[in-house]
Amino acid sequence: MHDHEQGYFTEENSAEVVIGRNRNAKDARLKEVMAVIIRKLHEAVKEIEPSQQEWFEAIMFLTRTGQMCTDWRQEFILLSDVLGVSMLVDAINHRKPAGASESTVLGPFYVHDAPQLPLGSNICLDRKGEDMVISGIIRDTQGRPIPNAKLDVWQTNDDGFYDVQQKGLQPNFNLRGVFRTDEAGRYWFRAVKPRFYPIPDDGPVGQLLGKLGRHPYRPAHLHFIISADGFEPLTTHIFDPDDRYIDSDAVFGVKKSLLATFEKVDNQERARQLEFANPFWETHFDFTLTPQPTT
Ligand code: BEZ
Ligand code: FE
Repeated sequence: MHDHEQGYFTEENSAEVVIGRNRNAKDARLKEVMAVIIRKLHEAVKEIEPSQQEWFEAIMFLTRTGQMCTDWRQEFILLSDVLGVSMLVDAINHRKPAGASESTVLGPFYVHDAPQLPLGSNICLDRKGEDMVISGIIRDTQGRPIPNAKLDVWQTNDDGFYDVQQKGLQPNFNLRGVFRTDEAGRYWFRAVKPRFYPIPDDGPVGQLLGKLGRHPYRPAHLHFIISADGFEPLTTHIFDPDDRYIDSDAVFGVKKSLLATFEKVDNQERARQLEFANPFWETHFDFTLTPQPTT
């Protein structure tokens, strides 16, 4: 009988011994997942050969990450975001057919109960920033417009904070709204030009980024969750392609297909109609939804 079959642990057979100990696991998926994690973790430790002190520092980092979590702050998700794991899990779970709009990270600032608003509403309630009008068409993969599709949108204010990060300072539901497309699949609303902003960086994940010589910024974007009967919901953003952080998003959320065109418009008459200052910004972005698989 080999040592590892008896359950004796050596440096060489470490992973096999631990995986073998889980042989009676009741949940087959858990058993499989833990076998992969144990194998890769032992492989990493063997390659790194940490000192006892380094291993303790790693444990203390994870401890601080857990201690930072509250009902409002999920430091482990942030860790997954900056390591690119959130985007990888998203990619694996949202493989799209050709022509369909791509997804990206949800982020921690979505709220479920934003107000339903008529098309054209201005979601900027604090009146800060450069006015911007956003419009587009929601279609299926055959190019047919989807009427009554629901768009849940949110973005930061001109200081780079979401309303939920500045409760009491910003009006509730500032720069959030839920819209429905018209009979031709069109949507439009008014807001402000988004700005780049840092992900929450006052905790262990921010310290890690600093030590790795990385900045915590996300390029300017607007968030969308788009849904319609018979289609897969789409969680995505549109990005300002001219943003200084467009090629170095702290959470790897940028995709080429999600780059919009932010155009500066100098038109007194249109500005007056939109109740905007002149000049203002305009972006047009169409989305294509994936049909839900038929069962
Ligand atoms: C966001 O875009 O809101 C976001 C995404 C990931 C981490 C932090 C913020
Ligand atoms: Fe965001």
